[in-house]
Amino acid sequence: MRVPIIIDTDPGQDDAVALLLALASPEELDVLGITTVAGNVPLELTTRNSLMMVELAGRSDVPVYAGCDRPMVRPLVTAEYVHGKTGIDGADTPDPTTSPADGHAVDFIIETARSTPGLTVCTLGPLTNLGTALQQAPDIAGSIEQLVLMGGGFFEGGNTTPAAEFNIYDDPDAADIVFRSGIDLVMMPLDVTHKALTSDPRVDAFKELGNASGAATAGMLEFFERYDMERYGTAGAPLHDPTVIAYLLEPDIFGGRACSVAIETTSELTMGMTVVDWWGLTDAEPNCLVMNEIDDERFYQLLIERIGRLP
Ligand code: BDR
Ligand code: CA
Repeated sequence: MRVPIIIDTDPGQDDAVALLLALASPEELDVLGITTVAGNVPLELTTRNSLMMVELAGRSDVPVYAGCDRPMVRPLVTAEYVHGKTGIDGADTPDPTTSPADGHAVDFIIETARSTPGLTVCTLGPLTNLGTALQQAPDIAGSIEQLVLMGGGFFEGGNTTPAAEFNIYDDPDAADIVFRSGIDLVMMPLDVTHKALTSDPRVDAFKELGNASGAATAGMLEFFERYDMERYGTAGAPLHDPTVIAYLLEPDIFGGRACSVAIETTSELTMGMTVVDWWGLTDAEPNCLVMNEIDDERFYQLLIERIGRLP
């Protein structure tokens, strides 16, 4: 049975690779729409980049809805220092020939949640669109089957401040709404993604696929690697967002634990921190399946095999 999904995203090279993975997997995933949000780069670019990936994958049938252009409360923080000016520097793909779908991403999320039994939402960026949707239509919490998100970090700490990961830091108020919503949550934090490092042989494998999608993936990874390799002193960079899609395809690649997770929204020092009760120190009910293990060999094999199916 195909799982109906919405992908909410702020491409971002790793978001772009996640989109390609999902679009390459039509037997398992029915991508009902892609919703864009401001994050790594401003909204206009995340929308353009999503349209580019849909076209590259030969899947212009999938609608792209533009969403919120800034976080719910705080000012927008972008990350061109990681992703480059366009957000997908290195992709070397043509500008899109298609346009975003009519309507706002938040309305699309609300309407789709109400009308689609078994909907899974995947978020790869700040949680602004989903947080806004839940604020406007709290009933949708009961009709979203599951949310799989890339965000947060606990033993690994943060990547934007010492305490916070980028997606949660960017819109902690939206994240707070989502984590309190009662939706079944699966979280791919830095503790997982920092074990899914790129390497020269892995990037070469994308190049050797011989298709345009493989070349774009290799180009994006080569650009995106440089920042994290320098920052962490590692031989490769964490490929964050595709873990979310890989979980839908092969969940046993990952391991984790159900925990209570709360979001820091008041202290400037620890703003956006995901406070994970990994050891069960409080009486708080678990609200999230928090992942901390990945079989990185299988993860990259899956990515390479699926992106090899695309044009
Ligand atoms: C997250 O932030 C962005 O830079 C990436 O696209 C990913 O979603 C990692 O912290
Ligand atoms: Ca992202």
